[in-house]
This record gives sequence, structure tokens and C-alpha cells, in this order.
Amino acid sequence: MSYIRKDSGSVELADGIRNLGFQDADVVTDFPPHSSPRDAVERKESAAEIDDSVYAQVEPYAGMPKEVLLLYSSQARYRVPREVLFWLTVCCTLALVAVTVAIIALSPPCLGWWQISPVYQVYPRSFKDSNGDGVGDLRGIKEKLDHFHSLNIKSIWISPFYRSPMKDFGYDVEDFRDVDPLFGTMEDFEELLAEMHKNGLKLIMDFIPNHSSDRHRWFNLSRTRDPLYEDYYVWADCNATKKPNNWVSIFGNSSWTYDEVRGQCYLHQFLKEQPDLNMRNPAVRKEIIDIIHFWLSKGVDGFRMDAVKHMLEATHLRDEPQVDPNKPPEEVTTEWDLFHDYTTSQVGLHDILREFRAEMEPYSREPGKYRFMVTESYDYEEVEKTMMYYGTPLVKESDFPFNFYLLDLPQNASGLWAKHLVDLWMSNMPRGKWPNWVVGNHDRSRIASSAGKMYVGVINMLLLTLPGTPTTYYGEEIGMENINITADQVQDPFGKYNLSNSRDPQRSPMQWNSDMNAGFNNLTNITWLPVHPDYKSVNVEVQKDSEGSTMFQYNFLNSLRQAELPFLRGWFCYVQADANIFSYLRELDGHKEAYLMVLNFGKQSATTDLSSVRELPDQLKVLMSTNSTNNGKVFQKSGIQTAAGEGLVIRYSTYTRFHPSHSTECYVSEKACYLDTVGILYKC
Ligand code: GLC
Repeated sequence: MSYIRKDSGSVELADGIRNLGFQDADVVTDFPPHSSPRDAVERKESAAEIDDSVYAQVEPYAGMPKEVLLLYSSQARYRVPREVLFWLTVCCTLALVAVTVAIIALSPPCLGWWQISPVYQVYPRSFKDSNGDGVGDLRGIKEKLDHFHSLNIKSIWISPFYRSPMKDFGYDVEDFRDVDPLFGTMEDFEELLAEMHKNGLKLIMDFIPNHSSDRHRWFNLSRTRDPLYEDYYVWADCNATKKPNNWVSIFGNSSWTYDEVRGQCYLHQFLKEQPDLNMRNPAVRKEIIDIIHFWLSKGVDGFRMDAVKHMLEATHLRDEPQVDPNKPPEEVTTEWDLFHDYTTSQVGLHDILREFRAEMEPYSREPGKYRFMVTESYDYEEVEKTMMYYGTPLVKESDFPFNFYLLDLPQNASGLWAKHLVDLWMSNMPRGKWPNWVVGNHDRSRIASSAGKMYVGVINMLLLTLPGTPTTYYGEEIGMENINITADQVQDPFGKYNLSNSRDPQRSPMQWNSDMNAGFNNLTNITWLPVHPDYKSVNVEVQKDSEGSTMFQYNFLNSLRQAELPFLRGWFCYVQADANIFSYLRELDGHKEAYLMVLNFGKQSATTDLSSVRELPDQLKVLMSTNSTNNGKVFQKSGIQTAAGEGLVIRYSTYTRFHPSHSTECYVSEKACYLDTVGILYKC
């Protein structure tokens, strides 16, 4: 580049750009006597020819040619600051990386959506009927999404809405890829899902891998021995009178039914209209996996895997041992008559579930789209069998298997029994896993009916203050009761076999308000099951803002659980258990506020003396009682009073922790500590 000295003293670059900066050079006065920069510039046309010694004495100026610039850049006064700045930048970057790595390494993993919110079960037939046919539907659920919002609930499990002949109300699936017209259309489903996602809600689908309906296309092809489908179900030689073995169905009587078309018996662990799929056949497993993909691609957030322990049966088909060996074989007709050594929990079952889970994982990797799996398996006293569904540290299975043990609480309600049932889970759960609690569902009696109305509040309090995910069956948040069902009103096939087994009582329409049909259906007077007569006082509208109502308390506890770190992240420690009281605390290292729960499951009032618990302050103030008149009451720790069925949440402040000196009485899924000064959680 060349430049020209102008008379004004400024310099114009050859391409015509004015460079005022050169003026500065002109005012430099201490040039050697024999020469001046101006002279030098005028003498030389090209920068390449400029004499170094000349420019070494000139101040730098904007627009200097590279060659000039280089003369300055190596001078110490320019080089040193430049190098200092460079190393400062390097150090800051490294420090930032180190801090980021340290924060990541020290932070406990974030909790998933399935851990933070309770799981709310919607039984779609009974939730909300939008078209007046007497049966709830998907549009009805969409109309009621606000209810979840007001309960601060984000995870919604919807019982089956697949196309079905409804012999077992949707658990008999005719088409796993379609919605039953009774519930709406696929479009309704997609709209519901989109609306749920828009509102931050997650949808968990019921998934039924064990059986299909006998109206499923596969079953017809199998009974006609289509070569591709011949082994899709479990077939065995028999005739109309002689069954392959003594196996019985969960709903009663033999689990084998003779099929005249094929001339063989097929297995059904539930209704005869629910033939068991042959899960040993890879083609069947492939079908199931394709269906999993179908719904995951639609965007569902998880599956509740139905009746999983029944997925495999022993191939030898030997008789199962009788519980009472002296019982005449013809009287062996119920589930309780046999030990289910060959029809449940067979070797290979977990491999199948793990294969399903593995198929879900790629979908979980989409940001913010974790896909959840919960399994349903009633293993009664064989808790170690249930725990297997957690998978292993290396192979993922369900996020948790449903914990049904609390369903037994009402049978024997007492503080000791409550502790026993809770401990059954806590002491058997594999390390680091996440607990969960179920107190009701569409197969079991409602709390108000099994335990008694006065225990609804304290049972909800237990559910919402224990560590892990609570499950709430629709209506439990308002304390709905079972309805009475007469023989001619029975809908449930299980109830048709034996009225006392009917599951209809706990499936009555949701009680929304005091209007016609409790607001479940306000178009016609039809409801598929009767509405409970107490709906005028027990309904969402009445309870929503009424302090002391079941729903108000549910809301309070659920919000507390999600807002206060000791509940989601902290230790859970037993404090006391006796005939009436089950008392435990929730605390987090470094977190000043801790919580003590004193729950009276007994039949009498009790005064609990916790004076030996030195970690507790002497005076304890009730944050919430199920009897709202006791809110704010202060007790000495030597005399905490509760009435039968009353539960207290007591908040207290101390940095003294209970768990270090009671390690055998305490559990935590993932250890975390809290730094009060900056308000952060870290691994410790
Ligand atoms: C599960 C369901 C139950 C159903 C059965 C057969 O246990 O919860 O309602 O009848 O599976 O699918």
C-alpha cells in the first residue's frame, strides 16, 4: 500500500482513505537532526522501503501498515501488556472450565418429572363424560386439565382407551394402535396429548403386553393356524372336559378354554376373552416393540406395564402345587388355591421387560423427553420379587415397580403396621433407587371405604410426606367413597364371578360439583355406574377453597413436598412407632428447616413423648394438622397430642441432624447436602 503526504499535514492512503492519525506523527518533535519522519515519508513511496530506525521513534497511529506496526509490537511496553492479557484470558478460561466441571461433578442429578410430581391415575370411563353417553372420554379429560393444575400434579396415567370389546373395560385390547370410539378418536387423543404437553403435563399410557382381546386380529389368525400367527398365543392339547393342567385364572376357574376352531385349548390368566400372548415367540415380542414405538413416536411420556408377572409360563405345563393339598382338585378354582410357581415370575421375564425398556431409551435421549416405565406386579409378601423390576445397576428396567404394600394399611391400621409396610419397601429397595407409594387404584377399594373416612387425611399425609413418588387414584384427593353395587348393577366381570370381588364400587363417576351427576355428565341422566350419593358435599367445587377439606390439605401437602428440599432430597428417618403412632422425620444436611410427622393411625387419641430425641427442639409448632383447628398449635416434645386419625406436620429449625447417630433408622436415595449461604445443593 502507498500513501501520500498532503499539505494539510494529514496523509491520504493511495486508495483515497483519509488518515488523520498520521497528524500525530507530524507533531513529534524529537527527530534526529538529519531527518524527519515527514521527509522520510515523502522520500519513500512504499512502506516496504521505510527505514526501521525512523519509525522506531514515531508514536503508533491508527491505520499503520503492517510493517510499521511490527516495529512497535515487539517493544516491551506493548508486548508485556499483550502477553499479560493473553495469559489472563487463558487462566480465566481454564478456571471457568474447572468451576463448571466441579459444579457438574458436585451437583446431585436433577430429579425427573416422574419423581417430582405425584402420579395421578385417571380411569377414563369415570373421569368426565363430554358427550352424554354415560361413559367418560378423552375430550372429557381435556376439559378437566385445570384440575391437575390446581392440584400441582404433572404426571397423569390414563387407564386403557384402546379399541376394545370392553369385557374387562379396556384391558382386553382389540387393536393396540387405535382408540375405542367410546373414548373418542385418534385425533382426540392427539389433541389431548398436545394440550397436556402445552400445559406441562406428562401422559403415561397403560400398556398390556400379557394378553389381547379374543377379538384381536392375531387371535383369529392363530386359531385358524395361519402359519405366521399359529404360535402367537399359548395353545395346548386338550378337549372340552380335560384341561391341560390345574392352572386357574385370576378371575376364577380354569385358565384354559377349549377353542373349537383350532381344536386346542388356549391359556388366559384373566378372562377367557383375554387370551395370553406367547411372549416366548420373538415375533410376538417384535409386535409389542412396534406398538411401543408407535405410541412413543406419538409423544407419550411413559407406560404403566400391566400384569407383567404373568407374561411367561413354564413350558412343561405341570400342575401348580395346591395351597391346601387336601382340597379336592375340582374345588381348586381361585387364584388363592394354588402356588403360582409356573404361571408367574418365570425366568426370562425381566429380559423381556429390559428389552422393552431398551427400546424406549433412544426416545428418552431427546432433550426434556424422558420416557418413564412403571410395572404392575402384585407379589404380596414376596417383596424381593417386586424389587427385581428395578433392574440392575447396569441394566435398566422400570423406573419403579408399583409399591402396593400400603394398600394393606387399612386392614390393620396402627402405627406399627404403617411402619412395617413402609419399611418393607425401604429396607428391600436396591440402593439408590426411588421409592413410590400406592394407596388405591381401579382394582382396590377406596381409602375412605377400607380405612374409614376419618383416616383419609392421615393416609394422604403419609403418602405425600414419605420419600419417593406418591400415586393418587382419581377422587382420593377429595376422599371419595366406594359406591354400593347390587348384583343387577354389576359391570365388572370379576364381580360377575363373585359379587364381593367386584371392582365397580371404586370406579364410580368423579364428583366434580353438586350439579346433576356430580358434574360428570351434565348432558343426559346416564352414568355407566351410579354416582355416590354423598356427591353434594364431597366434590371438587365444594372442597377446592375450603380450608380443612381433603382437597385443600392434599394441595397444601403436595405443594410443601415439591417446594421443600427435605421432602424431595432429604433423609427419611423413623422416630417412633406404636399401636397408634407412626412418627418419622425428613431432614437434609445443611438445611435449617426439618420436618417431623406424627401420624395417628390408631383408634384412640395419643400423647407422644419424644423427649429422648435430643435432635428435636423442646417446643414443636404444628405447621399443618389434618384437623385444621390444631394448625399453629405448640407442643412440648414430651407431649405431642393427636386424636385418632389425626396427622401432624411439624416444622422445626436446627442444624443438628438426626441421621448421623441413627443410621439404621434412616434412608436416602441419593445423598445431597445444602449450602444455606448460597442456596445450592451438592453431593456429599
Ligand atoms: C391389571 C389391571 C386390571 C385388569 C388386569 C387384566 O391387573 O389393573 O384391572 O383386569 O390387569 O388386564
